[in-house]
Amino acid sequence: MFHLAWFTNPRAHGWTAEGADRWAGNDIYPDRWQTLDFLKDMARQLEGAGFDFIMIEDHVVLSNDKQNLEPRVDPMIVMSVLSQVTQRLGIIGTFSSSFYPPFLLARQINSVDHVSRGRAGWNVVTSSEDWAAQAFGRDKQPPHDQRYEIADEMLDLVKQLWDAWEPDPWEMSAETGRYVDPTKFREFKFDGQYHKSIGPLNVTRSPQGRPAICQAGSSPAGRDFAAKHSDVILCSTFGQNSVQALKDFRDDIRARMVAHGRDPDEAKVMFLISPVVGDTEEAAQARYQEIVGATPNILAQRLGRLTLHTDLDWSKFDLDGPFPDIDPATATQGFQGMIASLKAFSRGKTLRQTLAEQETTSLKLIGTPDQVADQMQAAIEEIGGDGFLMHARPLTRRYIAEILDGLVPILQRRGLVRRDYSETTLRGHLKEF
Ligand SMILES: Cc1cc2nc3c(=O)[nH]c(=O)nc-3n(C[C@H](O)[C@H](O)[C@H](O)COP(=O)(O)O)c2cc1C
Repeated sequence: MFHLAWFTNPRAHGWTAEGADRWAGNDIYPDRWQTLDFLKDMARQLEGAGFDFIMIEDHVVLSNDKQNLEPRVDPMIVMSVLSQVTQRLGIIGTFSSSFYPPFLLARQINSVDHVSRGRAGWNVVTSSEDWAAQAFGRDKQPPHDQRYEIADEMLDLVKQLWDAWEPDPWEMSAETGRYVDPTKFREFKFDGQYHKSIGPLNVTRSPQGRPAICQAGSSPAGRDFAAKHSDVILCSTFGQNSVQALKDFRDDIRARMVAHGRDPDEAKVMFLISPVVGDTEEAAQARYQEIVGATPNILAQRLGRLTLHTDLDWSKFDLDGPFPDIDPATATQGFQGMIASLKAFSRGKTLRQTLAEQETTSLKLIGTPDQVADQMQAAIEEIGGDGFLMHARPLTRRYIAEILDGLVPILQRRGLVRRDYSETTLRGHLKEF
């Protein structure tokens, strides 16, 4: 069996100026996504389909690309709201290790864990944008590998804060007059290189022990951090469409986990996919061509997004020249793994072709629901585990229905994915198989 989850954004979903589904995200109230009604419906549907979790993306500031402005709702609020319209679905929010005091973040995520009865997770990102640092009173972000060092120390502190309470601290004694037993938590002082704090939190222990940790970095430093701390690791090879590349990624993570003294089965590696299904293979192929077809506006958007994530000005490169021969580790303090994957994908292509054909996902899955189920089954057998993270852009109700009503029941009938939850917490779902 393998795991399923969905990666989405807390912002306007379905609208797109051109290309596939350009009609499907129109809403006469362009601001209505901010009520979260769409995400509430989606979360209920994912729960109906037995998904492990919904993962909420985040960036803390507006993009500097004026062509691609993406206002959003704070993910902690989204998590809290979704926790109240679901009972089993795991809910992972993205929070940057650069912009929250560890005590505050540990307290908030643990609080969401309580209100959701053990379903919260933290997707740890380190953030590369200097203008985000400026929003928080600093001039610039630390260099790439140092950001992971700072995050690593933050995780040590946050885990101590989460571990400080014993599970059952309720004394409720008329004799002592106490509700809480004062011997049931550990007081401590943390004095690190980057962080200082005291414990415990004034929020008691998480129903699942600790909220789950999720990570998606793919540079060597990012993978090492993920292998040390994560319960779930997300991977995209940005369109390389190679099962071997996914197997190599998972094997590498598992080897790094062993080096950290962990059992490699303690973390699940999940691969980003965006299956395209149709009534016939031809219909699915035609739809795929429409989705990946890059009009000038879409090319400009992709160039802007690449600039945003990699912190490099891609407009200085010749679109019709070869993909620039740059070393991700020295070229940028931004997303290094993204450049490495695109470079691997670009072999022999121009920058324009690379951007036109590039996808954000890992495997091409196109066909009837039965054919896509075959492809997913074969990929997982070859990789060795652990599951898939769905993603769609644009995200429409039509696409959600195609996947949840078209593809997932076939996977369920084949016994490949969960039909019903047997656990109640996010950790429980991840560990179930
Ligand atoms: C599926 C997936 C989801 C991600 N979500 C976010 C996000 O919400 N916010 C963010 O700043 N970065 C996000 N990232 C980026 C990674 O966290 C990471 O910063 C990036 O891959 C660069 O890391 P690296 O330099 O170690 O390769 C995501 C990456 C992937 C593959």
